[in-house]
Amino acid sequence: MPVPKPDPTLLARTLAGEAVERPPVWFMRQAGRYMADYRAIRQRMSFLELCHDPEMCAEVTLQPIHRFGFDAAIVFSDILLPLEMMGAPLEFGKGMGPRFPTPIRTRAQVDALTPFVPEEHLPEPMAAIRSFLRQSEVPILGFAGSPFTLACYLVEGSGSKNWIETKKMMWQDPETFEALLDKLADAVGAHLQAQAEAGAAGVQLFDTWAGVLSPEDYARYALPAARRALSHVKDAFTMYFTRDTAPFLHMLKDTGADGFAIDWRTDMARAREVLGDDVVLQGNLDPIALYAPPEEIRRRVHRIIEAAGPRRHIFNLGHGITPQTPLSGVEAAIAAVREWSWDR
Ligand code: CP3
Repeated sequence: MPVPKPDPTLLARTLAGEAVERPPVWFMRQAGRYMADYRAIRQRMSFLELCHDPEMCAEVTLQPIHRFGFDAAIVFSDILLPLEMMGAPLEFGKGMGPRFPTPIRTRAQVDALTPFVPEEHLPEPMAAIRSFLRQSEVPILGFAGSPFTLACYLVEGSGSKNWIETKKMMWQDPETFEALLDKLADAVGAHLQAQAEAGAAGVQLFDTWAGVLSPEDYARYALPAARRALSHVKDAFTMYFTRDTAPFLHMLKDTGADGFAIDWRTDMARAREVLGDDVVLQGNLDPIALYAPPEEIRRRVHRIIEAAGPRRHIFNLGHGITPQTPLSGVEAAIAAVREWSWDR
């Protein structure tokens, strides 16, 4: 299949609320292990070495743009990196998820975390954004983890199914938990704004674990922390990603984000109804649908576009692309987005 060309103006026009022919398309985790070019680089360097090399980050960010013609890029980095710079050493073991060998569980540990100064502690994403923009006209997005989602990893020390340590701290010592969220909110807020200043067209706050909370706990802890983080961003469009938040979708608006990335368990038509026509919606194809036959992919892509549009929709997956995803599925999904026309 010939590689389609990105439309470098489509994202900005969509964010501005203009009538567009079709939604712009990019995928969460679009740079990564499902691509052979990425795997080849990972033969030579570890994930963390890669994240700390801005020229390589820019190269990896460009790979899916060149291979598939996505209309937007996302800078290559990880949400957990700022935490290392704040004093919580981080490991990515072979074939395992991330680990903090010394979890943060006490007030003294929270107080000892260093305030995060982006250009001093983690200049790589900003340098990678600048390098990318010297090489491409395609808009690039910055990102950070939400305070709550970062607190989950920090307190637990790794990924978890039930986040028991995190919820124990939240309920046994809410003051310490809130102090941690405040510190993280100011850190990621500064990080997002630094990426905006480096030239990011938009920034996405990843609240991957918001959906493990009850509506009451979401409203008390995760929501105000996300709002505080986003309030630091002055120079870019803000997008807020959550998963499994269908039961309290209406609350997401209180974060003050300009747009919302919706996961596939939420029906896009319902998301539009609840969140309204004045916000941008992003999503929300099930990433596993990329393993389906091309005609099934096409049908699902078109259903989502129909439900979210005609304005203020960015096509994406409902979560990150998985490492075994067939390239033919990615091509089929992008082709289905590109053939859509709202002027029909
Ligand atoms: O989207 C992109 O292409 C940009 C890069 C990006 C990465 N991680 C690179 C990465 C982004 C936006 C993230 C966000 C991230 N990281 C989240 C939030 C979004 C989500 O997926 O829920 C979370 C929770 C993390 C933490 C993290 N990093 C985990 C749990 C893992 C291991 C999971 C896995 O798939 O192995 C990572 C590793 C990671 N981050 C990889 C990449 C490309 C794989 C590293 C490798 O081995 O090459």
